[in-house]
This record gives sequence, structure tokens and C-alpha cells, in this order.
Amino acid sequence: MFDRAVYNKRVEWYKDARFGMFIHFGAYAVPARGEWIRSYEEISNEDYQKYIDAFDPDDCDMKEWAKMAKKAGMKYAVLTAKHHDGYCLFDSKLTDYKTKRDFVREFLEAFRAEGIRAGLYFSLIDWYHPDFPHYGDKQHPERRNEAFKDTLHDFDRYLTYMHGQVEELCTQYGPIDIMWFDFSYDNMTAETWKAQELVEMVRKHQPDIILDNRLEVSGEGFGSLATQHPTDYSGDFVSPEQVIPPYGILDDMGNPVLWEACITMNDNWGYHSADHNFKKSSTIIRKLVECVSKGGNMILNVGPDARGRFPKESIRILNEIGEWMADYSKSIYGCGPAELTKPDNGRMTRRGNKLYYHIMEMSIGGIPLFGIRKDQIESIILLNDGTEVKVMDYWTVNNYPDIVFINFAGANDLPNPIDTVLEITLKS
Ligand code: GLC
Repeated sequence: MFDRAVYNKRVEWYKDARFGMFIHFGAYAVPARGEWIRSYEEISNEDYQKYIDAFDPDDCDMKEWAKMAKKAGMKYAVLTAKHHDGYCLFDSKLTDYKTKRDFVREFLEAFRAEGIRAGLYFSLIDWYHPDFPHYGDKQHPERRNEAFKDTLHDFDRYLTYMHGQVEELCTQYGPIDIMWFDFSYDNMTAETWKAQELVEMVRKHQPDIILDNRLEVSGEGFGSLATQHPTDYSGDFVSPEQVIPPYGILDDMGNPVLWEACITMNDNWGYHSADHNFKKSSTIIRKLVECVSKGGNMILNVGPDARGRFPKESIRILNEIGEWMADYSKSIYGCGPAELTKPDNGRMTRRGNKLYYHIMEMSIGGIPLFGIRKDQIESIILLNDGTEVKVMDYWTVNNYPDIVFINFAGANDLPNPIDTVLEITLKS
């Protein structure tokens, strides 16, 4: 039975963390056309094997990865233990279809050593296993191959294998902070996956683990977590993909639901050598603030290349985000919505009596702080260096006595043009 009190306790750290790293790493980095290549190009197991054979990341240092995540201000990370192609990055006893190195172990050790919570992505879908439906499936590489038309797949055997692998991950590696199942579609959902049994087993071994909602849905749909009666396998957060819910997410009673926007830096999860369409770090920073202001987390993806290296663009973006976070992360961690109307010139986040006013647009003269009254303010400082910020008292703004104005003496741009954060301590 879903227990609200247990749930609230379990998700506490995750809700405070707000910012994580997704890592899509696998043999699909060799063809380097994204992690869906097997499906898009309808590649058979036999033809995919050359990529499996070639996948031998010789420059993969997960300690480096963990350092980069930490510097960017990320509090948790999730690695693909197995993606849809079925190729395992861990030492599963249930298959030979796995890397020689146990990347899952390396990842968990390296990230934990940096104090970063570590979780695993696990694909419910498996395009390698003979008992996963082939012909007529929505996305299987052999979905149109008539040769598989009459093949009988013993789905129960697949489920035994899949549950077995999840159990391996839950028992061989110490505490796992997150299990990110992916994903349900058509009639391949909850009951089909034997989700009740699966989650009972997972929570037996890992009582504190956080689960996403994709045993019930995909990136589309919220699942029963957003209803009055979540199932035991509803998961702990909704997982909107490549979108920020415009108004956060509410359940059918109108209460906020925990969510995590999963976002790529370019347009692919897995490494794609021709995809240089990287977002600006300023956009990502502002969107992270938006997530927090709407009660959500952001998990930002990196797709390491076949040698195990982060793309150069990703490293640059992580560094730039890290620079901003070094000054302003107090307005992210442990923060949530301010419950005030979004101000004209930025956004607000809040933790207790600390209101973080994110100014994203410069003004002329006084900068109005929308939504707060003078008599509510105990003090205002610039979050990056603690400088006192005075409420303006000057003839140019005197026509607007109900609005608080501040300014940055003599400055023609914001101290940080991406997002300058004021910490406003409110009177209790
Ligand atoms: C998806 C995709 C995928 C990616 C993921 C991340 O639904 O199938 O390749 O791993 O979501 O959210």
C-alpha cells in the first residue's frame, strides 16, 4: 500500500538535490548516431554485433566523470546499466551480453566517493533477448521482419530474466539511490512487467530507493502517482522528457507532484558525433531555475563517446553551469516554489524564510522586485558575495510607493547577466 508518510521521508533528499546528471553510455556510441539506432535503422542482433565487439572504452575514467558532475553542482547521477539494445554495462550472471569491465560498479564507486548519490537506468525493453516480442512490436528492430512473424516468444521467460537482472543490481552493489525504469507503451505496461512483484523485490533489497514512474507510463503520461490512489509501482516522481511542465505537475486533488525533467544537452541521449546542436549553458541554468521554481528537478544528460570521454561541448557546458552554481546554488538546493506570481524580470525560488529572487533581465534605473512589500523584508543580499543590497529611495521611483526597487550602483548590466540572485530574508 502506498504510504504518504513513508513516501515523503523517502524522497526528501531527492527533492532537495534538484539537479542531477543522466549518463547514456553504451555500444551505440560506436556507430555514434544515438541510442535508438538499432530501432531506427532496423539493425538485427547479428549486424549490431560489430559495434558490441568494437566497444572497448580505453579512456573511460569514471572518477573524472564524477568530478565533472560535482563541479557542475549535480547532487545525483544515473547511469544506463542497460539500454533498449539489451547490452549490459554490469557483470550480469544471467547473460554474456555484457561489457568486460563492470562499468556499473566503477560508476557507483566513483560517484559515491565524490558524495554524489548514484542511481541506475534500466530498460524494461530489450531488443536483444529472444523472448521479447519482435514482429509487430512498436519499436523492435525486427518489427517488420516477416521471418519473425510466427516466432513464439516466451514472455514469462523474459520477465524472469529481466527481474533477475534488476535483483542482481539491487543486491550486488550496495545501496542504489535511484532505479530509473524505462519505459511502458501500448499494452507493455505495469501488469505486463509484473510491476507489483518487481517493486516489492526492489524495495525488499533497497527500502530507500527512489523509482521513476515508467513502470506505468513513458515520458508521456503521469501515471497513478498523480492520482489520489498511487499504486505500489507508481514510482516516486513523474518523468517529463524534453519539456518543462508549464505549471509544474499537480495530482487530481490539485496537490503538487514531484517531477524530474530529463533533458539532453544536444538532441540525443547516446553519443551522436554529428549532433552539435548543444543548448547554451545560460539556457540550461535558467531552465534549472525554472524547474525548481515549479517544484521539479532537472536531470541533464551526457552521452560519452566510444572511448568513454565526455564530448568537449558537454565539458564546456558543465563547467559554465558549475561557475554559476558556485555562486548561486543556495537558491537551488532544498528550494522550491515561492508560491508567488512569477515576476516580470525573472523567477523566484524559496527555502523557508529565504526568498531567492532571480533577476534575468536588466532594467533602466531602478530594478523592481515584484511580489514583495517593503515591510516583509528583513534584509537583501547579493547571493554570490553577500553584499548588502539597499532598497532604493530616490525621486525616480517615488511614484511607485508599493513596489520595492533596488539597483546595482552604476552598473549597466546585471552582476551576472545569466541570472543574478538576490537572497531576500523575509521577516517571520
Ligand atoms: C526514452 C528513450 C531513451 C532515453 C530516455 C531518457 O524514452 O527511449 O532513449 O533513454 O527516454 O529519458
